[in-house]
Amino acid sequence: MTTEGEQRPPLIWDLPLRIFHWALAIAVGVCIYTGLDGGFYAMDWHMISGYVVLGLLLFRIVWGIVGPRHSRFTAFIYGPITVWHWIRGALRRQPPAVAGHNPLAGWFIIITLTALLVQAITGLFTTDDIFVQGPLRHIGPPPFLDWSQAEFLRFMTRIHRQGEWIVIGLVALHLFAILAHRVYLREPLTSAMITGRKRGAPAGEAIGGERILLGLALGAAAAGLTYYIVNL
Ligand code: HEM
Repeated sequence: MTTEGEQRPPLIWDLPLRIFHWALAIAVGVCIYTGLDGGFYAMDWHMISGYVVLGLLLFRIVWGIVGPRHSRFTAFIYGPITVWHWIRGALRRQPPAVAGHNPLAGWFIIITLTALLVQAITGLFTTDDIFVQGPLRHIGPPPFLDWSQAEFLRFMTRIHRQGEWIVIGLVALHLFAILAHRVYLREPLTSAMITGRKRGAPAGEAIGGERILLGLALGAAAAGLTYYIVNL
């Protein structure tokens, strides 16, 4: 006889990763909304939410190395052949079973995290020359670039402005992929990102512990590092 506890789906996503994900979704949402608004008051919130995104990404980079197994980058970076097998299976509605991120999602996540990091860093140097000034605009270009300060700021500002559309595109693609999983593959992924427990994942894939204390310590360190960077 199985008890109720034994029937629960295995724990795949640890609590620090889940908090990271939903905090990132809110902060990126605020960044997009306020960036498109562009008003004076909105830009205050744009900068604050941008710092939150930067801090969350710093946390995620370290968590991708020391976090529980399914949060580690090595757990979801696959070679092109594995990605191709997964896509072929998914098109036939029979993708190979994966407990964590699937091989295609893995690369999408790396691209999204990189795009957000570029966006957060260039934002620190972005200026409209009137009201809104990134906090690191006084720092000049790296020595290997033979650019003036003004040229460097113009470059960073251009990347930041055009990058916003890439981020919007990636968020739209992400939401479409979640919906496609739900409708086409009948996989309810969202509940797993809320509870951490993924239906259909093999019991042997469950993570041993959530490393909550380590997550708290790294979260605090990432916040401190972000504060330091912004005030350089
Ligand atoms: C601005 C909005 C959002 C951003 C920037 C975002 C970003 C991300 C990132 C970076 C990951 C990978 C997590 C990691 O391992 O680091 C992820 C995974 C995931 N996200 Fe989002 N997300 C957003 C909104 C949403 C929303 C609204 C939903 C639900 C409707 C959602 C559902 C999921 C799910 C289910 C996964 C795990 C996918 C899997 O099992 O492979 N996300 N998201």
